[in-house]
Amino acid sequence: MTNREFHPESLMMTHGYKPELSEGAIKCPIFQTSTFVFKSAEEGKAFFEVAYGQREKEPNEELGLIYSRLNNPDLQILEERLCLWDGADECAVFESGMSAISTVMLEFLRPGDIMLYSKPVYGGTDHFVNKVLPQYGIKGIGFTSTQEKDEILSLVKDQEDKVKMVYVETPANPTNALFDLEICRAVADSLSTSEKEVVVCVDNTYMGPLWQHPLKHGADLVVYSATKYIGGHSDLIAGAVLGKSKHMVRVRTLRTFLGNMAGPWTGWLLMRSLETLKVRMTQQASNTVEVAKFLEAHPKVEKVYYLGNLEEGSRQHAIFKKQLTSAGAMISFDIKGGEKEAFKFLNCLKLMKLAVSLGSTESLAEHPATMTHSDVSAEDRALLGISEKLVRLSIGVEHFNDIIWDIEQALEKV
Ligand SMILES: Cc1ncc(COP(=O)(O)O)c(C=O)c1O
Repeated sequence: MTNREFHPESLMMTHGYKPELSEGAIKCPIFQTSTFVFKSAEEGKAFFEVAYGQREKEPNEELGLIYSRLNNPDLQILEERLCLWDGADECAVFESGMSAISTVMLEFLRPGDIMLYSKPVYGGTDHFVNKVLPQYGIKGIGFTSTQEKDEILSLVKDQEDKVKMVYVETPANPTNALFDLEICRAVADSLSTSEKEVVVCVDNTYMGPLWQHPLKHGADLVVYSATKYIGGHSDLIAGAVLGKSKHMVRVRTLRTFLGNMAGPWTGWLLMRSLETLKVRMTQQASNTVEVAKFLEAHPKVEKVYYLGNLEEGSRQHAIFKKQLTSAGAMISFDIKGGEKEAFKFLNCLKLMKLAVSLGSTESLAEHPATMTHSDVSAEDRALLGISEKLVRLSIGVEHFNDIIWDIEQALEKV
């Protein structure tokens, strides 16, 4: 081949796939199979030794195909392709974003442990942290984007030894608040000892895998709802975790025994989606610039939460410059009024769909306070600005003038 290091988007059609192993098919077939035939009993034994960690792989030895809960070509090739965007050693694909997130938390936290987490997080994550983990004796302590390292550390004063994870969602859903990953890394490092590693895990769903690469900013693990930009067509549910091999071995092992890997069909759909990932996301982001400009100037809009209009010189702007390469395609805004006005706007949209989820080709609108984030405590919602007047938009690939027309006619009716 060549020594050239291709860009990830140039490799999304071919990386990791050998046509000669599949009758020359240019596209990876769907390996809709539960199990794989071994050439001999010795081969089966060797594959299991490696898969179950009983011995290290020999140089150039590849993990053989065993059983689709452990490995399957559609997932393996997809995982190799996803690694290219984030510069990760390894990736594991899950049947949902929530299964990726919950598996990471269950693997790295034990009864008695504390997890520091950024607030707000996606409503499902908030539920898992505040309603499920406490049942296993694990406590989540939240911090906000305005808190500095020392303030975050003071939240766990006298219980530093219990902290095992710093979990960060940046930008935060639905407010677009940015968290400084350098500070999160520094917090984790000050709480780590020779016996105890505090891992930093970042939910990069809003930006990834194109516009932010948390592993390059000190994170140990990155999680995704692959349902969003990675899938991109609102036709599947999936998740992914990426990171260094030493952490991913643990994530992959728990995935094997929870059995929450994605299936081959989902893997195949995601590979198809990855081919257009950059084109889609680029178009979505450029449409969002126009939509944000329109919202900013509209008299019925009180405040716009968009990463492209952060105030120069502000802390949020400094984080944006350091961590992100685009303002993305998510906008939230406060409509003048409250729930009544927000609902009127949502009910009057004609082109955009009133639905939760984000990152897909079609534009979506929703009301976080009563939908995605309705389970977040009222206290946190008030603290974090998830109010009744907040509307969240996910901008798609339609012509931006049509999206703006739709928003304008719906605002007129309010
Ligand atoms: C930021 C973020 N993380 C995680 C999830 C959960 O992903 P999934 O719905 O694929 O389980 C979502 C879903 O909306 C999300 O917005």
